[in-house]
Amino acid sequence: MGAKGLIISGSFGELLARQKASEEFELGELLIAESADAKTLMQVYDLLYGSQVSEQNLELISGMTLEEGTSLEFMDPHLRNYTLAKLKSLITIPKESKKKYKASKALPGFFSELLEVEKQDINFITKPKNPLFLGDMRSGSKVLELPLFLDGKKALSHHVLVPATTGRGKSNLVKCLLWKLAAEDYAGMLVLDPHDEYYNAEPGLKQHPAKDKIKYYSPEPLPGTDSLVFNLKDVTPDHFSGAVDWSTPQKEALSAYWKKFGKEWIEAVVLEKPLDNKYHEGTLGVIRRRVMDLLSLTWDGEKLHSDGIFKLNAGASTITDIVKAIMDAKIVVVDTSGFDGREEILIGSMITTELFKAYKRAKTKGTLKDTPVASIVLEEAPRVLGREVLEKGRNIFSTIAREGRKFNVGLLAITQLPSLIPRQILANMNTKIILGIEMKPERQAIIESAAQDLSQDDRAIASLDKGEAIVTSNFAPFALPVYVPLFDTIVETRRDNTQRAYPGLG
Ligand SMILES: Nc1ncnc2c1ncn2[C@@H]1O[C@H](COP(=O)(O)OP(=O)(O)OP(=O)(O)O)[C@@H](O)[C@H]1O
Ligand SMILES: [Mg+2]
Repeated sequence: MGAKGLIISGSFGELLARQKASEEFELGELLIAESADAKTLMQVYDLLYGSQVSEQNLELISGMTLEEGTSLEFMDPHLRNYTLAKLKSLITIPKESKKKYKASKALPGFFSELLEVEKQDINFITKPKNPLFLGDMRSGSKVLELPLFLDGKKALSHHVLVPATTGRGKSNLVKCLLWKLAAEDYAGMLVLDPHDEYYNAEPGLKQHPAKDKIKYYSPEPLPGTDSLVFNLKDVTPDHFSGAVDWSTPQKEALSAYWKKFGKEWIEAVVLEKPLDNKYHEGTLGVIRRRVMDLLSLTWDGEKLHSDGIFKLNAGASTITDIVKAIMDAKIVVVDTSGFDGREEILIGSMITTELFKAYKRAKTKGTLKDTPVASIVLEEAPRVLGREVLEKGRNIFSTIAREGRKFNVGLLAITQLPSLIPRQILANMNTKIILGIEMKPERQAIIESAAQDLSQDDRAIASLDKGEAIVTSNFAPFALPVYVPLFDTIVETRRDNTQRAYPGLG
């Protein structure tokens, strides 16, 4: 195969190459520069015109073409005008097979030929023991048939962020990832699904052959799935953080109720049972109204009624069942599509709080090592991780973002607006699966907190098409360009391809 171009000048992170006239360089394209003992993997991050003709003469020629309809040709056009590409080195792969790839530290030779990348050039990226499927390797817009994985145990427990403009394929990506995870045993997932698009959709996870690996909780369950009901006695005051902003006196009164009445605290709030300290009547009134409203409770003067999913005499095992399923490496999808934002966060907080407690207990007991890692899929993450929200106080999701990895619990946070999330939390999310991001400030927030240097990838990120991603991760050798397949095609190929695509499943 012939060269696509030649390196002609530049500096370490900014090499310049001339493109062969019959070839076409593309933004994000991977190219190989070979030396005697190593191959260097390079990536195009910018394209520009080059010309042997001076700027003034170019203006003259274009003027004559436009105004006079004549064209001046005084040199072979292939030699005269050309395309230049700016490249950066991603990694150096020694030809001696025993040596490991390493970050590039030297310049490729002057006039090095640039070759199109091929599958075997990147065979140093192998499938890890606990694979987290990302998609296929991509060179520009060309997809190489080389599935890429991260070490899922590490990646999931150290948090994953999926930032992208609306409609670029965030949900599709997470669906693919979950589908492949259902064939593995190293991770359990809690999916808080505000659009009911993950399980009960066409196509959806309900079509997965490993039925017992995926559980679905909904207020309107499908045959064979579980009903989303909670017992009122399982609700604690801290489940409300994130869903409701309490003032300091309100917080104090809430914990006073909890301290005095324990699991009967909600009834005490509704009946306005007396507390030991005096609280302002208004404070107690607000608490009562908000708690009843969020839990859809009514009081008829004699009895408490539940109009929602928080029941007096049902749902006692829901949370324990969900936590157990996740610790058994199952995927639990919770359909919160019927609720408003605050109710949804309350439901998510309840399950997540108890899940986190269970993992903390496992650590104390010494069983954490043998327990699958847990990850919580959170759509529109700034609702609970946004700077403004966190200024008002912590919630379970921000706690997990800060210290979850010590207990093997991570977040898989999805957002269109990463810039709303505090920098420290963004930097803590050690894997970012970046799809197309149109807005500059959003790209900036991601580039500044990425695990690899993406300072030259601003244009590439802006121009990512649906399903095209760049994965930056502490657990990847370099920022991986990836194409995420359309979920429909994964589901469709399952029958003819079960063996190859889902090892471990019959
Ligand atoms: N990998 C892909 N290949 C081809 N088309 C895709 C791919 N991913 C997504 N699409 C198309 O784009 C549409 C939107 O995708 P998706 O719902 O995943 O976007 P999103 O980022 O989750 O959007 P939102 O911000 O609205 O939630 C899909 O319905 C699908 O048709
Ligand atoms: Mg979506």
